[in-house]
Formats: sequence, C-alpha cells, structure tokens
Amino acid sequence: KVSPSAAPERLPFCRVTEEDLAFFRKILPGRTIVDPDLVEPSNVDWLKSVRGSSEVLLRPQTTEEVSQILRWMVTKSTERCLSSHQTFSHVLFSSYSYCNSRNLAVNPQGGNTGLVGGSVPVYDEIILSTSLMNKILNFDSISGVLTCQAGCVLENLSFYLEERDYIMPLDLGAKGSCQIGGNVATNAGGLRLLRYGSLHGTVLGLELVLADGQVLDCLSTLRKDNTGYDLKQLFIGSEGTLGVITAVSILCPRKPKSVNVVFLGCETFEQLLKTFQLCKGMLGEILSAFEFLDSECMRLLNTHLKLPNPISDCPFYIVIETSGSDPTHDAQKLHNFLEDAMTSSLVSDGTVATEEAKIKALWSLRERVTEALTHDGFTYKYDISLPVERIYQLVTDMRKHLGNQAKSVVGYGHVGDGNLHLNVTSPSKDPALLAAIEPFVYEWTASCRGSISAEHGLGLKKRNYIYYSKQSQAVALMGNIKAMLDPKGILNPYKTLPDNLKQ
Ligand code: FAD
Ligand code: MLT
Ligand code: ZN
Repeated sequence: KVSPSAAPERLPFCRVTEEDLAFFRKILPGRTIVDPDLVEPSNVDWLKSVRGSSEVLLRPQTTEEVSQILRWMVTKSTERCLSSHQTFSHVLFSSYSYCNSRNLAVNPQGGNTGLVGGSVPVYDEIILSTSLMNKILNFDSISGVLTCQAGCVLENLSFYLEERDYIMPLDLGAKGSCQIGGNVATNAGGLRLLRYGSLHGTVLGLELVLADGQVLDCLSTLRKDNTGYDLKQLFIGSEGTLGVITAVSILCPRKPKSVNVVFLGCETFEQLLKTFQLCKGMLGEILSAFEFLDSECMRLLNTHLKLPNPISDCPFYIVIETSGSDPTHDAQKLHNFLEDAMTSSLVSDGTVATEEAKIKALWSLRERVTEALTHDGFTYKYDISLPVERIYQLVTDMRKHLGNQAKSVVGYGHVGDGNLHLNVTSPSKDPALLAAIEPFVYEWTASCRGSISAEHGLGLKKRNYIYYSKQSQAVALMGNIKAMLDPKGILNPYKTLPDNLKQ
C-alpha cells in the first residue's frame, strides 16, 4: 500500500532540449536562467522541506511573454516531436507519444513562501517566476481599486497604498516576500480576513494565461457583474494548476485613522473564547483582528528569536487589533472593553499599543511564530478550520496522543476565523513521528466536519488528503475542470489534486 504522503512518480513529460532553450533565450534574453546556483533557491521551498531538480528558471516581464512560453510548451514541442517521429500514428503509439502528448511541465512561482510544497517543482518542471512582473498598472483613488501585475510584492503594494491613504485588504507574516499573484493563487487568508473578508470577495478581476497560451482577460474593476459565471473565482485558490495569474485588480479599504493593538494573557482557552465573544460585542465594527498563540509559542519566540514576553507568563495570549476612523471613539470603546475583560477576570494581564513601533513589536510576537518554529527543528505544519470552540482541543489531544515523541507541539492562529495552526517539531525529519500525527490529525478534523487546509492550500504535501474535507463527487468534478483547462496536465503537476485523479 502506497502512503498518501509518498512522492508521486515522475509523469512522462518531455525534457528540456537545446531547441527549447534557444526559443526561451530569444523571447527572454538574459532572463532564461540555467546556472544551477541561480536556479537552486527556486528549487527549494521556504520551509526547506521539499526540493525539486529543475534546470531552467524563466523570468518573464509581460503577459505576452508568459503566453508565448506556454504556447511553446504545448504547441511547438508537439510539432517538434511530430516532425522527428514522422507519422502521427507513430507518435500516438510509440513511447514518445506520451511525451508528445504531455509536453513540457511548468511550475508557476511567486515569492516562494508557500507552506505546502506547491511553489517548487517536484522533478524537472520549468520554473516560471513572476518576480519581474512587478508593475502597478492603475490605482483609482475614488473606488480604491488597485490593478497590478501578479509579481508585485504584498508589502510594496501596502507601502504604495499607504502613501495614498489606502491599505491592502490582506496582510500576512510573509508580506516582505509573497506576491499578490501567489496570494490569489493560494487564496491566502492572513491577519485581516476577519475584517475585510477573503480574496473571493475583494479580488474584482484577474488576467490569466491558460495552459495553451491563451490570455483570459477577466481583469474587471467592477464591484458588481452578474453576466454569466464568475470565472475568476475558479482560479482563486487553484495553486497554479489551472492557469498563470498575470494581473490582479483588488478592492482596497481606506487607511484607518486610528489603530490600536492589545496583547492580553488568559489562563484558559475557555476564557480566551469568552474574551472573543465580549470583544465582538463591545468593539463591533472597529475590531480588525483577533489572533492567539499559546505559551509554547511564547517559549519558542523567547528561546530562538530572543523576543521578550511583554506581559506576565500565561497559558494563552491574544492579539487584538482595532482599526477605526475616530481615535477618541476607538480609545473609549477599547477602554470599556478592557475594563470589562479585566473586572470579569477573563484576562489576567495585558498591554496596549497606539504608536507604530510598539504596534509592530506586539504584532511580531504573533507573526514570527512561523520563523521561531523553523529554529526549533523540522516542522510538521497543520492548518485546520474547525468550529471555533473546538480549535484548541485538537492541540491538547495531539499532545496526549504523541506523548514524548515530539519536541514541541504548539497552537496559534486566527481565532476570529476558526483557523488553528497546529505545528509539531522534531530535531530532524522523523517518519515515525509523521506516522503518529497523520492520519490522526485528519481523522480528528473530519470528525468535526473541519477543513484540513483552511488557508495554505493542498500543494504537494496535502493533495492526497483532500477526501477528508471534500466528497468524492466534488473531487471528481475538480478533476474534470482540470482536464478541460489543462488537458495535458502541464500546469503545476503533482499538486492540489490527489494522485488517483492524475491523467
Ligand atoms: P508561492 O509560494 O510562490 O506559490 C504558492 C502557490 O501559488 C504555488 O502553488 C504556485 O504554483 C502558485 N502561484 C504563485 N504565483 C502564481 C501565479 N502568478 N499564477 C498561478 N499560480 C501561482 N498564508 C496564509 O494564508 N495566511 C497567513 O497568515 C500566512 N502567513 C505566512 C507567514 C510566513 C512567515 C510564511 C513563510 C508563509 C505564510 N503564509 C500564509 C503562506 C504563504 O505566504 C501564502 O500562501 C502566500 O499567499 C504565497 O504567496 P507566494 O507569492 O509566496 O506564492
Ligand atoms: C500564520 O498565520 O502565521 C501563517 O499562516 C503561517 C503559519 O501557519 O505558520
Ligand atoms: Zn495563518
């Protein structure tokens, strides 16, 4: 029996030839990278947990270049195979026919901060990086709609907008490297989803290049448009398996005039949940984030990143952010909430920040948990959606289940969205530990009708576990959509869909 997490077999795609390289060099002069040292960083994921063996990195600057690359991959190499194997029937029935019908495989890559092994090749797929597609195309300061190329780094977009009194509707710890195209391709959630909703709501339009090189222009900037199916939605969260996103238009909120961050400590998770309830009721429309980390996360932040705890030691910590338009009104609301939370003993300690440096420092304690974990050892990461009242029970049950097999078992995440990040570390990769975690974690999640991937996607690592969260009819329909949009399966193979559906 093959383990669901085992590496897939290499599918019979063509290998890159000198003729292919000559074509790529012609359309991307100086941007067709074959030096192994320069390709290497794009072969390894952010977690350093998966490694491909691609020999070619392409760095297009325009949509037309992406289109030419994909057209070459499906058409030109077919012609090449056809002419070198004389007859069509020979091509169909010889061993080359497979290669011919498969052509060259491609791995779209943004900032390479993905956490499920989707952003790097598995074998020798050509890496198509959007890093040089980093132009802002338009910003409408009346509607707040930003239109830009897919390779714009999220933080650069935030800086651009802040100068114009707007902000991006999403924010995540990887903002300095992740790109808007990658964010859309993974349907990234992050720290502001509670307030501004998911990218399925804020993305107004997309421009894509399909597997055959066709450009699909759905780059609308309209808020309302019910003319037929909303095709862009299919590509949001499709992890580079249905098309390459080349441009995005997104609705951006006004920059809040007043931002406050509160860091609180709680004795129990029940108290943390009650604080969340109180907070929603009392802060209402100004609440923009409600995040948590446990004391194990704090220990890792102290030990590995030397970040001190700003309050007294507690089993649980909360980061609350408010964003509003009236500093006096927001301060009053926050004061009333804190008074209630303290007098009812829901929270045992806390600190408030209104100035930027302290706000940043408090946010670091939540945003840098991911980084602290990488210093603790090899990290097994789980990104689970559950009914909010159950989220910490999974951490406690996992600790009991693993006993002393793991180095650390930590819980943190987006309480406001019912999204737990459960992470387990060990000194090095440990197959026995992995076998103890999986499928336990997935069965536990499925028993509460949770999702085994709340916001990171399935990528390479989780593709075969999709059935824990989706019915087989739904997965089969996904397979049909993939076959229609990418009949040769060249776009990000081995990712998202389970192996038993691969063509
Ligand atoms: P990549 O990692 O390069 O790619 C991710 C996937 O998208 C791959 O499957 C790739 O093939 C595909 N892809 C990339 N660009 C394109 C494109 N233009 N067209 C088609 N497909 C494309 N995620 C969250 O959801 N919430 C968080 O809070 C969060 N915090 C993080 C914090 C840290 C420190 C780190 C390291 C990661 C975090 N992530 C988070 C995960 C990751 O940052 C997101 O998934 C992010 O959206 C990936 O963007 P990227 O540009 O790095 O994409
Ligand atoms: C987060 O919320 O910090 C991210 O999703 C990254 C992670 O899960 O480690
Ligand atoms: Zn997250």
